[in-house]
Amino acid sequence: MDRIEILRKYIDEILLNITDVEERRCAYLHLYGVAQFCTLIALKRRENAELATMAGMLHDIYSYVKMDPKDHASKGAILAREILTSLQITNVDETKMICDAIYTHSEKEVVHSDFNEVLIDADVFQHCLYNPTFEIKAHEKNRYEKLKLEFGIA
Ligand SMILES: [Fe+2]
Repeated sequence: MDRIEILRKYIDEILLNITDVEERRCAYLHLYGVAQFCTLIALKRRENAELATMAGMLHDIYSYVKMDPKDHASKGAILAREILTSLQITNVDETKMICDAIYTHSEKEVVHSDFNEVLIDADVFQHCLYNPTFEIKAHEKNRYEKLKLEFGIA
């Protein structure tokens, strides 16, 4: 099986066990929404789209497993490493790339490596495009404006 599909199966099992229906809906929307934006942005910037998609699928999994968003980026990087190690779908370098991106994804005001930037921007895109009539949060405004320019929708 394709490794993105192996990971999707694993993530789906976690999400299906979320008892709160609204929380479950948000988790599906956000994780797979960010994963798709990761694909789009990575393809546009010629980054590794397969690994970026996997990073998107995993990036907030800690919050949904523990129902606790505190330090979810650093703790999520550790959990993502455990998941990828158990599934055996990535090599050492690929695991590091994905987990590093998850580790830095909450730092919206800092510019990181090109690959890590894909996940941060995908997170912003998903938040901002969930409902285009909602007000953009202050800490995401700058990145959202840059993304709209990059994608020719400013
Ligand atoms: Fe997120």
